[in-house]
Amino acid sequence: MSLSALPKAYVGLPIQEAGLELLRGKVDFKIWDKEGAPPREEVLASLKDAEGFLSGLFVRVDDELLDAAPKLKIVSNYAVGYDNIDVPAVTKRGICVTNTPDVLTPATADLAFALILSSARRVIEANAFLRSGDWKVWGPELLVGREVTGSTLGIIGFGKIGQAVAKRARGFDMNVLYFDAERRSEAEQALGARYASLDELLKGSDFVTLHCNLTEQTKNIIGEKELRMMKETAILINTARGPLVDQAALYRACSEKWIWGAGLDVFVKEPVPLDEPLLTLPNVTTLPHIGSASRVARDGMARKAASNLLSALTGEKPQDLVNPEVWKA
Ligand code: DGY
Repeated sequence: MSLSALPKAYVGLPIQEAGLELLRGKVDFKIWDKEGAPPREEVLASLKDAEGFLSGLFVRVDDELLDAAPKLKIVSNYAVGYDNIDVPAVTKRGICVTNTPDVLTPATADLAFALILSSARRVIEANAFLRSGDWKVWGPELLVGREVTGSTLGIIGFGKIGQAVAKRARGFDMNVLYFDAERRSEAEQALGARYASLDELLKGSDFVTLHCNLTEQTKNIIGEKELRMMKETAILINTARGPLVDQAALYRACSEKWIWGAGLDVFVKEPVPLDEPLLTLPNVTTLPHIGSASRVARDGMARKAASNLLSALTGEKPQDLVNPEVWKA
């Protein structure tokens, strides 16, 4: 088929070959293949004739973008979270929104666990201590941390990733509490987890880990009041979205020792500015939003994002439609 007969799409980030190969010969696509987010003007101009947009989580999909994309049929987000998309605005125009669930569940749960272990056992701090030449002698109190085995883990948001974290916690003999907008009885039983109110979870957990979507209701779900409820020995883990936590309150909690520390993969503003006060604290472990950054997960995300895009452009219902009401069979 000649290129001009193919549906047009804009791929707004350099996704893996595993996804691009699904599009070649079937979609006439332009790709932003540089590092970082494309400038807004570039996105808007590229969407002028596009029927499909494969988007990164750093692009705001709102009425301004939709006005610039009159032919759009799908926004295929290369992420499981889609808080960058104004879903009601997109839905009102009959446009599909898709995401990339499942393929990144193990990788993200693994990273949450890596943060639990590395924060508790001060792994990053210990590495820096050794390399700076400060290790003069072994001592009984040298870099003593917290015990993970047998402790209590509080999971906020008990969807697929939260449940995958609970599964890992069983291997460490942890008691698992969870809080979610809905009670998940089947998963509770399968994973030996107990439902708790948010207050009960915060007061009773040694580790609190966030796995809920970012919405108006969950923004700042962890603020000063919640941090003050946590144990002085507790650690907060966030691999979900930065704005779930009030960062200024977290800084005070960690510097004034209301809690023992934090492990963060996500921030309110990303990339996190280097003058962010949390970056000065030794009891805060920080990572650059790499929860899903395993080869398997990222290739899987590329395949999913591409095949969701392709489905919508060829008249098939995309597998991971988050607004199914737009689909008329
Ligand atoms: C997501 O998928 O929502 C992550 O934040 C990026 O993998």
